[in-house]
Amino acid sequence: MRKLLFFSLMIALMATSAMLVSAQDDEGFDCGTDEEVTISFFGDPVGSHPQAEADTIARFQELCPNITVERNPGAADVTDLLAFYLVGFEAQSSDLDVIRVDVIWPGQLAEHLIDLSDIAPQAHVDAQLPALIENNTIDERLVALPLRIGFGMLYYRSDLLEKYGFEAPPATWEELEEMALVIQEGERAEGNSEFWGYVWQGNAYEGLTTNALEWHVSETGDNFLTPDGEILINSEAAINAYERAASWVGTISPPGVVSYAEEDARGVWHAGNAAFMRNWPYAYVTSAESEDIPAFDVAPLPAGASGIGASTLGGWHVAVSRYSDHPEAAAAFVVYMTSVENQKFYAIDTSSPPAALELYDDEDIQTAMPFASPDIVEITTARPSNFARDQYNAVSTLYFSAIHDILTGREDADTALELLELDLLDLFGE
Ligand code: GLC
Repeated sequence: MRKLLFFSLMIALMATSAMLVSAQDDEGFDCGTDEEVTISFFGDPVGSHPQAEADTIARFQELCPNITVERNPGAADVTDLLAFYLVGFEAQSSDLDVIRVDVIWPGQLAEHLIDLSDIAPQAHVDAQLPALIENNTIDERLVALPLRIGFGMLYYRSDLLEKYGFEAPPATWEELEEMALVIQEGERAEGNSEFWGYVWQGNAYEGLTTNALEWHVSETGDNFLTPDGEILINSEAAINAYERAASWVGTISPPGVVSYAEEDARGVWHAGNAAFMRNWPYAYVTSAESEDIPAFDVAPLPAGASGIGASTLGGWHVAVSRYSDHPEAAAAFVVYMTSVENQKFYAIDTSSPPAALELYDDEDIQTAMPFASPDIVEITTARPSNFARDQYNAVSTLYFSAIHDILTGREDADTALELLELDLLDLFGE
C-alpha cells in the first residue's frame, strides 16, 4: 500500500514537472487547437537568419503537426516594417497572425495585440529576463514575448589596430577618430582606395535613432527624452555630439553613410573595407565567417564628454495579432518560439543574446557570444518608447529626421535642435 502511494506520488510529481517544462516538452506541449490550421508568421527579412526561423518552424511542426506556419519575410527597415503592420492593423486584417515586434513597439502596438499572460505557462514567462517582461507589459497586458536582445557595439579589426601600433580599441570618440584616420590613410596608401575608417547607420530611419541616441547619451549623460518625459535635446553638449558625427561624413566615414542601414555597414565591413563598425550582435557570427576579415573583436562604444560610453537597447520579440482567426494556434507558436529550448538555437544561429536568463550559464551560449551578459538590459540605454507609447514612432521620426538634416548639412545643428525641441514640446502638449 505504502509502495503504491509512493508510486502515485512520483507520477504526480513527474506530471507537475512535465507541465512546468510544457513549452519544451513534446508530450506536454499545448498546441492550442486540434484543428488543422495555417497561420502566417511575419519574420526576419530575406537573407537574415533564414536558418533560425526555418528550423524554429520545423521543430514546432513536429510538436504540433496540425499547425502549418507560413513564413513571410518582413522589411529590413524597421520604420517600413512598422508602417506595414499599421496598415494591416488599421484594416483589422486577419492576414497577420504572428508578428515579430521590435523592443520599442509594445506600447505602440498594444491595442492590436492579444494578452499572452493567460496563455503562456507562468514558468515560461518567469524564465525570461524580468525587465523584458516589464517592457512588454502594457496596462497589465503581456502583449509580446521576448526572443533575443540587441545592443549597439563597436566592431574593430584587431589585425589592423596591431599593424598601426594601437594597443587597445578606442575608449573615446576622439581616439576612434584618430585611429580610424591613421588606418584609413595607411590602407589607402597601400592601394585599397575603397577603405574607410568607420561605418555605421546614417539613413533617415529607426536605425539612425539608435546611433544618434548613443552619441547623445555619451556626450550629455542623458537621454534626449527621459523616462519622465523631460525633453533634453537642445544643449551645447548635444550640439557638439551631432556636429562631431556630421564631421565624420566624408572624412572617416563614406559620404554614402547618410543612406546606410545595418546591412550596408555590414557589407563594407565584411568586404574588409572598414577599420571600425557600429552594429548589433547579429553581425558577430557573420564576421567570424567572412574570409575578408583576418581578425576582429568587439568592444563597448566609445565615451564622449560625459565620460561614459552608451549603447542603445534593441532586440526582437514575438506577438499575436488581435485580428487573427487562429489566436490559440498563433499563441502556441509564439510560446514555442520563445521557449528556452528554441531560444538557445536561435541565439547561437544569430549570435544574439537570449531573453531567457538560464541560458547565460550555458557554455554553448558563452562560446558563441562571449559578450553576452544578463545585465545588458540594465546597462544599455532604452529609447523613450515606454514614455511615448503610441507616440514613439512620431518621436523617433522627428528625431532621426532632424539628425539626418544635420548629418547631410541641410540644417545647422543649432537650428535643427531648436526646431526639434519645439516639435517634441508640441507632441506632448506642453
Ligand atoms: C535592430 C534592433 C532594433 C532596432 C533596429 C534599428 O534590429 O534590434 O531594436 O530598432 O535594429 O534599425
